[in-house]
Amino acid sequence: MPLVVLVGAQWGDEGKGKLVDHFAGEADVVVRFQGGNNAGHTLVVDDEQVIVHLIPSGILHRGKLCLIGNGVVIDPQVLCEEIANLRARHYFDDDSRLVISTRAHLIMPYHRRLDQASENRKGDQKIGTTGRGIGPAYSDKMARTGLRFHHLLDEQRLPDRIRSLVAEKSTYLQQVWGESPLNAEEVILEFLGYARCLAPYAGEVSRVLDEQLGQGKRVLFEGAQGTMLDIDHGTYPFVTSSNTVAGAACTGAGVGPRQIDKVIGITKAYTTRVGGGPFPTELQDEIGASLRERGKEFGATTGRPRRCGWLDAFALNYARRVNGLTEIMITKLDVLTGLGPIRICVGYQCQGRILEDYPPDLETLEACEPVWEELPGWPESLRASRSFGSLPRPAQAYVRRIEQLVKVPVAAISIGPEREETVVIRHPFE
Ligand code: GDP
Ligand code: IMO
Ligand code: MG
Repeated sequence: MPLVVLVGAQWGDEGKGKLVDHFAGEADVVVRFQGGNNAGHTLVVDDEQVIVHLIPSGILHRGKLCLIGNGVVIDPQVLCEEIANLRARHYFDDDSRLVISTRAHLIMPYHRRLDQASENRKGDQKIGTTGRGIGPAYSDKMARTGLRFHHLLDEQRLPDRIRSLVAEKSTYLQQVWGESPLNAEEVILEFLGYARCLAPYAGEVSRVLDEQLGQGKRVLFEGAQGTMLDIDHGTYPFVTSSNTVAGAACTGAGVGPRQIDKVIGITKAYTTRVGGGPFPTELQDEIGASLRERGKEFGATTGRPRRCGWLDAFALNYARRVNGLTEIMITKLDVLTGLGPIRICVGYQCQGRILEDYPPDLETLEACEPVWEELPGWPESLRASRSFGSLPRPAQAYVRRIEQLVKVPVAAISIGPEREETVVIRHPFE
């Protein structure tokens, strides 16, 4: 089982970083393949917390190779800061551990400005983006007007490329949004600095992966965001601007679909969402507030409070289908301790009809009512458990019910933010 893809099965923040960090000890290579620094992955080891936005969550394990694929959009300022931070904390001591695809697109200062200007004018129709320039950067990639990492390294031509793009985007910012223009010479100076910082990491990620897989090395692909934020399969337009499903691992890193052995979906034991958009199982009551408080549900990237609700097994089953999940891992089961009876949404009802498929349109989604099932809760703390059998019976029954509803086995359960607070039922590379 050398190639395992791990993706978010909900609306992001499922605890992907924690599980990637947990299992990175068993892997040789960890790969990011989509998204950018809209992602925020919190890793906790021996009470010390590290948040990574761009560098794969395998970085805390010495000797592991970390790759950033072509499908990622890179804000060079954020990446340089992240490298410097990890270096200062002695997690990153060997330049050869990080390889960045020369085909990855760059997030430019005008992308951030365009993202924020567009959101500010949407009023209550706001997507609630992270404001990091993700949408405009992916738009330029698809419009074939983006700058890629290899352009950053071509210091001779970079100034003219930046001058021409800044002129065009400044005109747009001024004339369409009434915003101030950017200063091209300042951007050029800044970017020449980033080129020097990032040049040591430039590489051909697809070839590195081919070589590593050829040597029988174990590779863990780390998704960012979640299935319901996927540009095609998510709750459009309240989504991010990349494909977040497992299929994107191939296009975003340069491997073929037949090389993937397992696809693992990560889900919380309940649901959260940050930003706008439909959320059928949302709880706008004291239970929702309690989940937020117990689960410390505040964004790792923007600090915004996350919206909280019960587990949505209908959405999870959809995530199983569009990712081809072979198994799931459940995080934050500990947060449900002492909450009383627990609900699971087992389907959506719309105008007296039970839906067969996850609706593509906002209008149907907004008219949907969850169909609930209730299970008993448990008062005992789970955080010392290290085996499935040592979990309280109702917690075991809750996990088994999720398995039945999603139709794939549960391979691990996370019962705390620390690396070791994990019950492993089946190892990813088994
Ligand atoms: P990611 O974006 O999917 O990597 O998730 P985030 O890091 O944004 O959010 C997950 C949050 O939950 C982080 O603060 C983690 O430290 C924390 N966390 C992860 N797993 C668990 C768990 O099993 N229990 C508890 N209580 N916290 C967890
Ligand atoms: P991780 O990897 C949760 C959400 C934003 C917004 C929408 C679009 O930590 O799970 P964008 O800035 O991408 O254009 O915003 O997507 N979003 C996330 N929500 N976790 C994330 O990443 C997210 N990345 C983007 O809140 O609703
Ligand atoms: Mg996150």
